[in-house]
Amino acid sequence: MAGRVQGKVAFITGAARSQGRSHAVRLAQEGADIIAVDIAGPVESIRMYPPATEEDLAETVRQVEALDRRIIATKADVRDSGALKAAVDEGVAQLGRLDIVLANAGVFELEPSLELTDRAWQEMIDINLTGVWNTCKVALPHLIEGGGGSIVITSSTAGLKGTPNTIHYTTAKHGVIGIMRTLANEFGKQAIRVNTVHPTGVDTVMIQNPKTWGLFTPDDPEPTKEKFTELFETLHPLPVAYVDPVDISNAVLFLVSDEARYITGVTLPVDAGYTIR
Ligand SMILES: NC(=O)c1ccc[n+]([C@@H]2O[C@H](COP(=O)([O-])OP(=O)(O)OC[C@H]3O[C@@H](n4cnc5c(N)ncnc54)[C@H](O)[C@@H]3O)[C@@H](O)[C@H]2O)c1
Repeated sequence: MAGRVQGKVAFITGAARSQGRSHAVRLAQEGADIIAVDIAGPVESIRMYPPATEEDLAETVRQVEALDRRIIATKADVRDSGALKAAVDEGVAQLGRLDIVLANAGVFELEPSLELTDRAWQEMIDINLTGVWNTCKVALPHLIEGGGGSIVITSSTAGLKGTPNTIHYTTAKHGVIGIMRTLANEFGKQAIRVNTVHPTGVDTVMIQNPKTWGLFTPDDPEPTKEKFTELFETLHPLPVAYVDPVDISNAVLFLVSDEARYITGVTLPVDAGYTIR
């Protein structure tokens, strides 16, 4: 039986691990080939959790190839639009087309607003906002040439609500909605759909680290994952503390599939009800 994105090609940023890898594998399960990029190395101002590695990116390649799909993986930084363009152009040259773009790469750091350095602010905006635009910019000519396509940008519940101690992150995640709405209007006539997804906490290394646990439970001298989990359960109407990467992948898969052919300009929460609290 044909998959839900059979024969399509997807360009995915931040594909070395966690949600990006899950998207690559989930789309490959449904018949897509993948153009993967990741910085696969450290970002200067991100100290809260360990960076993805070249081995992580190689593992994504292994998992996609195990599904008998093709994948072209490149180590590239979304801040470097030249490197991104080279990666997507080479991927399209090898795989023949481009249909799907997932602007997923991002970083996160918790910092009280008045303690944030200028450098940390700028680095966050450069990756989580400008990096998303760079991703769309280098991919759009290929989508236009192919007669249409679908872009999904990974925002956050922090793109819909003001979240304390994340002024730079929250600003960037709100900003990508502007990119989405503009492109959805500007390129709709070329059959290009653009949407955002807004995950609540996803069970990845980005939030599962001692500094995050501590800043979310500031009155606790000994923050632990268990206490953090208990707190996060209270944030959601549904009985869950965090969602899994595949929950985001399934929402993304729906949005990029033909099942969503008339859905564009939508901000889709995958948040167990967090944003209605
Ligand atoms: N984990 C959560 O709770 C959560 C919640 C809401 C939204 N998000 C968003 O989901 C997306 C994926 O996060 P994740 O949870 O998988 O975290 P993660 O840190 O495990 O994965 C992010 C990936 O992006 C890559 N990346 C970072 N900076 C890059 C750059 N400059 N260029 C290229 N690649 C870069 C990293 O190397 C990593 O592989 C991010 O945009 C994040 O902001 C995460």
